[in-house]
Amino acid sequence: MNINEAEIVGIDAGGTLIKVVSREKGDGGALAYRKFHSSDLPGAAAWIRSRYSQAKLCITGGKAALMEALLNGCSGYSVSTIVEFEATYRGVRYILNEGGQPLDNFVLTNVGTGTSIHHVQESGQVRIGGTGVGGGTMLGLAALLTGVTDYEQMVRLAEEGQRDHVDLKVKHIYEGAEPPIPGNLTASNFGHVRGRGASFFEKADLLASAIGLVGETVATTSVLAAGQCGVANVVYIGSSFVDNEPLRKAVEGYTILRGASPVFLSNGEFSGAIGALLDIMPEVKR
Ligand SMILES: Nc1ncnc2c1ncn2[C@@H]1O[C@H](COP(=O)(O)OP(=O)(O)OP(=O)(O)O)[C@@H](O)[C@H]1O
Ligand SMILES: [Mg+2]
Repeated sequence: MNINEAEIVGIDAGGTLIKVVSREKGDGGALAYRKFHSSDLPGAAAWIRSRYSQAKLCITGGKAALMEALLNGCSGYSVSTIVEFEATYRGVRYILNEGGQPLDNFVLTNVGTGTSIHHVQESGQVRIGGTGVGGGTMLGLAALLTGVTDYEQMVRLAEEGQRDHVDLKVKHIYEGAEPPIPGNLTASNFGHVRGRGASFFEKADLLASAIGLVGETVATTSVLAAGQCGVANVVYIGSSFVDNEPLRKAVEGYTILRGASPVFLSNGEFSGAIGALLDIMPEVKR
């Protein structure tokens, strides 16, 4: 038997990234977290097979069926699946409880490749809606506008950018007059471009504005959802926030400005995989 063998593995195979959470046998049952690119499902499956000779696996996410096909039938494995929204809900509740922050009525916004918005209560979750503006939008606009295709490079450059060069603020429109709403609010994302091509702008400025567009869209939609549900807290998860200060700041600032309280979960991007793991933990009541 391999000393690193985990008996239980939760997998969230999303549109962009595969998140894997396992309970390590040799480490007092601590959870171990790993990520792979969804473009390499076979590579992720091969890694799992090489690491665990015997395992109980539960898979969720949009690519769960593809992943299941790669792992099902491996000797020593028992493989099941769980619906993504249910897994994410369970994972989020687990992280909140473990962190001593047991919220029981909030809006949950998952900024993955796209963005999904849910109302979570003690009884379960209801999907309220979403927007196609999400992490995939950041990467897509970054590639088109600047040629930057690496996530970390995109964020690093955006941190040096000035959104004012690309976006139009309310105060730019109300030049010399008192605006009826805060002048620092964005009046028009990319509205300052005024017919000029991408080459006119600094890459850093374009990237800062692309991330700002995603952050403000996500936050505005979430806050409207919070108002509709009559809740104060919006919990944000998803890999789009990982090491991404510009996105966090945009979302945090806009959420507070619009009267709601943002909560960012550490390891929140692993919620789906944690929920899948919980689904096959014998000691967890269903
Ligand atoms: N190393 C990385 N490579 C690519 N994208 C990354 C990376 N780290 C963070 N991201 C960001 O995270 C986003 C994906 O987030 P997440 O993993 O939560 O989505 P997903 O589960 O794959 O997608 P979905 O839930 O919509 O099917 C990407 O679109 C990108 O903006
Ligand atoms: Mg996802």
